[in-house]
Amino acid sequence: MVSRRVLIASGVGAAAVAGLGYRIVDRGVFAGPCGPAYAPWEEWRGGALEGIMRPLHAAILAANPHDTQPWLFEVGDETITVYADRARNLGAFDPFRREMQLGLGCAIENLCHAAKVYGYTAFERPVPGRLTLSPPDMPVPVAHISMDPAPAERDLLFEAIPDRHTHRGVYLEKPVEARTLNFLNGLIDSENVRVAFLTDAKARAAMGALIVSATERIIADPTMSAASARWIRAGRREIETHRDGVTIDAAGLSPTTVMFAKLMPDMGAATQDQYWLDNTKTTQVHAPVLGAILVKDRLDMAGALNAGRAWQRLHLTATRLGLVCQPLNQPVECVDRNAELGRGDSYRKALMDLTRSGGFEATFVFRLGYAEKPAPLSPRRPLDDVIKRSGYA
Ligand SMILES: Cc1cc2nc3c(=O)[nH]c(=O)nc-3n(C[C@H](O)[C@H](O)[C@H](O)COP(=O)(O)O)c2cc1C
Repeated sequence: MVSRRVLIASGVGAAAVAGLGYRIVDRGVFAGPCGPAYAPWEEWRGGALEGIMRPLHAAILAANPHDTQPWLFEVGDETITVYADRARNLGAFDPFRREMQLGLGCAIENLCHAAKVYGYTAFERPVPGRLTLSPPDMPVPVAHISMDPAPAERDLLFEAIPDRHTHRGVYLEKPVEARTLNFLNGLIDSENVRVAFLTDAKARAAMGALIVSATERIIADPTMSAASARWIRAGRREIETHRDGVTIDAAGLSPTTVMFAKLMPDMGAATQDQYWLDNTKTTQVHAPVLGAILVKDRLDMAGALNAGRAWQRLHLTATRLGLVCQPLNQPVECVDRNAELGRGDSYRKALMDLTRSGGFEATFVFRLGYAEKPAPLSPRRPLDDVIKRSGYA
């Protein structure tokens, strides 16, 4: 006869297995990026009856800081006004909302490529001005885009839009050819924006050390650490609710670490920071190319939009060429944080020296290379959530 103790033990065991099973399903431990939060990557071409709204399906797939998706689009009869949704900010991580402005530039770049394919010439008029410290959370217009009917054209970068993803994992030790870098350099068509590629081992090591030092600085700053942690999404439920933020699937961790991170109770900001620092040191500063996008004045609003457009163009082109990319913007985040606190800063000058910037300053640091596997998808909010037909201001 089965003893009472055995019955109780097997009951407890069954409950534990059921609990574990529930957690595995609830947190999407083995699921990877799938479900409604990723649907915009499949619906990215929109429908023929959507008129000038149609290119917005592509716009919302652009790169943007921490996947905050800080955009709103006001659609008129022949124009689209792009707003910065300032409430979706990174706080002390981006005190001037400079990265937000870069992300809006990325969305405008996608929009323009899609417009061409759907029979419009998109003419962008950026709103002039300078970014200021900790602006109010109200939406502000950043660009007016007139959508003039034109013959539909093929556009190779448009076709790369659904395949472009931020790759935070291991890059291969395979060099990128000089002629490829020259080609990428030729994509920068604004006189106020430049790109610097570092391929020399010594220069890359110095840039890597700067990125690691900035990461250490950020995680030692509780306000910055909390500002970032607000946008980290751990389990499936959180992703489905918010459809934004940096997910564990896309963080560039090993498959085992991803599994445990989802299975265990949510890590606090300190544990997340430690993973980030370790991954930065061991993986993310290693690539055949490190680089930076440079501008005359990183707080000039139109210049920041242009720099964002340049990054999106580079990343789309790199995707077409079979390359992968990751922004590593910690040093510039430190420049802004030091300016916010009125602290001395050495990162701005170090970046200028390393990139031989000719008086320009860095607004965006990145790595580029080849990887074994493609990068995972990040979630997106539905297009309906970011479109309005009446004004915001
Ligand atoms: C201005 C800007 C700064 C960014 N900084 C970083 C960064 O420092 N580290 C990083 O891993 N990704 C960074 N990203 C990439 C975003 O996190 C990424 O674009 C976003 O999560 C959406 O993912 P996706 O690019 O794969 O679509 C940055 C992107 C932009 C536009």
